[in-house]
Parts: sequence; C-alpha cells; structure tokens
Amino acid sequence: MPTQLPLQTDVALDLLNTFGIAATARHFLHLTAIDQLQLLSELPMLASLPRLILGGGSNVILTRDFPGLVLHMGLRGRELVDEDEHDFYVRAAGGENWHEFVSWTLQQGWGGLENLSLIPGSVGAAPIQNIGAYGVELKDRFHSLHWFEFATGKVHSLTLADCQFAYRDSVFKHGLRDLGVILDVTFALPKHWQPQLGYGDVAQSLASVTQPTAQQISTTICAIRQSKLPDPHIIGNAGSFFKNPLVSAEQRQALLARYPALISYSQPDGRYKLAAGWLIEQAGWKGRALGNAGVYARQALVLVNLGGVTGAAVLALAQSIQADVMQQFGVQLETEPVFV
Ligand code: FAD
Ligand code: EPU
Repeated sequence: MPTQLPLQTDVALDLLNTFGIAATARHFLHLTAIDQLQLLSELPMLASLPRLILGGGSNVILTRDFPGLVLHMGLRGRELVDEDEHDFYVRAAGGENWHEFVSWTLQQGWGGLENLSLIPGSVGAAPIQNIGAYGVELKDRFHSLHWFEFATGKVHSLTLADCQFAYRDSVFKHGLRDLGVILDVTFALPKHWQPQLGYGDVAQSLASVTQPTAQQISTTICAIRQSKLPDPHIIGNAGSFFKNPLVSAEQRQALLARYPALISYSQPDGRYKLAAGWLIEQAGWKGRALGNAGVYARQALVLVNLGGVTGAAVLALAQSIQADVMQQFGVQLETEPVFV
C-alpha cells in the first residue's frame, strides 16, 4: 500500500500541550510510519518549513501559533529485542506513552524503570532532557536509540556516549537540536534487579516493607507524585518549570551561613544541587499568581494555568520569579520546558 501523508492545516494545539495554551499549527501531520518522513523530505514546499516534533506536549510552552509543520508522534510498538546474562533489551517506538510503556515492562516482570513511573509524555521525548525522578535517570537504563536525520533522510543508531546525557540535558538540546526525530529507544533492564530507594520520600514510604518489588515501588512513586504534582487533565502545567540549580561548594557554604534551612544535595563532581522549589517558596512566590499564570500551592517549582493563560504570561511570571530568586540568593534559575 502506498504511504499516505494525511496532512492537515490550521490545527488547534490546545489539547496537545499539557499547559493547555491555545495555539495553532499551520501544517500538521500525525506521524504513524517512518517512510512518511522520507516522503516529506521529497516535497520541497514542506521540506523548507520549520518543524516542531510534538509528543505528549508535557514539556513545551507555546508562545505563538506555529507557522511551520508540527510532526505529532504516533509511531507505536514495543518489544523484547534481545537478552544476555545481564539484561533484557527492550525497545519502544517514539510515539508510545511513557507511563504505559513502564507499566508494560513491569507486567512482563522486567524491573528497572519503576522509579520513572507516571512521568507524562512519550518514549521519544524521554531522551531529550534525560528524564529523571526519585533517584533514577533515563541514562541509567538506556542502551541506544534510532534517530532520523532530516537533512540526509538517514536513520542513525546512537549509543549512550553519543547522547551526552546530563541532568535534564542531552545532545538533542545542543548539537542535534531540531535536526531529526527519535524513532525508538532501547533500554537495558537488569536481570539482577536492585531497588533504588535512595530518595527520601520513597525510602520513608516503603520503610515498613522488607523487600519491595519493582511493582510496589512504582505504586508508591505514583502515589507520591499524585500527592505533590497537579494532574494536567485538571490544571494545566508542564511539571517542574525550572531546573534545580547547581552551585559550587563555596557558594553553597555562603548561602548556608545566611539560610541554615537551605536544601541542597551533594553531586559526584563536588558541586551541590539546590532545591529550586525551596528557593521560590522562600522568595514568597508559592501559591501566588501574575495574571492567569500561577505558582502551584503544593509545589512551588510547578507553574500552572489558572485559565486561558498565554505563553507570554507564563514567561512573564517565570521572569519575575527568576529576578526575585537572583536578588535574594544570587542564584540563576534556568527554565526546564522548551519554549516554542
Ligand atoms: P513534548 O513536550 O511533546 O516535547 C518536548 C521536547 O522534545 C520538544 O522540544 C520536542 O520537539 C521534543 N521531542 C518530542 N518528541 C521527540 C522525538 N520523538 N524526537 C525528537 N524530539 C522530540 N520530567 C522529568 O524529567 N521528570 C519528572 O519527574 C517529570 N514530571 C512531570 C510531571 C508533570 C505533571 C508534567 C506535566 C511534566 C513532567 N516532566 C517530568 C516533564 C515531561 O514529562 C518530560 O520532559 C517528558 O519527557 C516530555 O515528553 P513529551 O512527549 O510530552 O514531550
Ligand atoms: N520544596 C520546598 N518547597 C516547595 C517545593 C519543594 O521546600 O514548594 C523542597 C521539598 O520539601 C524537598 C525539596 O524541595 O525537600 C525537593 O522537592 P521534591 O522532592 O518535590 O523534588 P523537586 O526537586 O522539586 C525534582 C524534579 C522532578 C522530580 C522530583 C522527584 C527537577 C527540576 N525536578 O523535583 O521532576 O519528579 O525531583 O525526583 O529536577 C520535572 O522535571 O518536571 C519534574 C517534576
């Protein structure tokens, strides 16, 4: 059957971004097959347009109507591709829902991704910022991925080293930014599974369980997340709006002298990660609003849509918070979501 290109024009993106910001895409393609990408590159009118790849829209802030082509990830499929004495190698297509994929691996009896339960969005977006939660990052379970390059129409296989993963960062935010599509991701899930219970909240919740299973850890983490983070179906948001800032040991020491309650975590490289939510709360922003953009009352790191918010209003609130945190603590907060 010949490949179809079911292109649409002037498509509303309101329901396709979890912040619930109103915007449209001039051109739109729900991508369901890899050869649709090849076909696109052969159409000069479309090949020259700016592109936005959209998964679950849970880490984007739309600041205007998108004048180019939105590629909405609809590639599906997941399978065990290999195993050896150490690992199960499990692959999922870029359009698979992340949490459904994690739940499926747990149902198969393959532990390893349970700490990353209930993170919204798609498998294909997970490497972009090296998603992380409760003491585990995607890079800890990553094996490789397939990436389609727009300029050449070629599919490349990228290894852990190629992806340059760091805290909320990867090569896809730098050298390979906007240059292609992550088609699928392969994970190495350990056969000799060990629970990762280092994160305070998780250790506390499971203190009375002697040998928690991966499924129990997943259930616990889902409950912790639901108690802290707003459900985007009810209140629009993009999760943490800022990264937790990394500071030197000297800067942390100077801050501790002024603020003994400062929350910080030591890093392998000698630096410290500060809890941005705490800084924002201390700066007086928790539960406050600027226009229709608000700071969530239960987690100051999460900005929310109080109804009909625009990308510009969200940006204005973010800048006010950044300015106040800089003034009080001398710390620059970097935004986490991608501004479009
Ligand atoms: P989108 O928002 O659709 O896209 C994000 C970026 O990736 C865009 O630049 C987009 O162009 C690009 N992109 C998407 N798919 C592809 C692809 N296949 N190929 C190339 N580029 C692509 N994040 C964490 O790390 N930890 C958390 O604990 C966490 N909790 C969250 C809680 C809530 C309530 C919310 C709303 C968000 C949270 N996030 C968290 C952020 C978000 O879930 C992740 O960043 C997620 O990976 C985004 O997936 P997505 O499919 O929605 O990406
Ligand atoms: N805190 C406050 N006030 C607040 C919010 C937090 O004092 O308003 C304090 C908490 O009491 C806690 C510390 O800050 O001592 C850390 O808070 P929390 O455990 O809620 O985690 P976080 O640092 O705010 C990070 C990630 C989340 C991830 C959780 C769990 C970043 C930017 N955020 O949040 O990721 O789910 O840890 O690992 O690293 C995301 O990236 O979108 C996201 C939600």
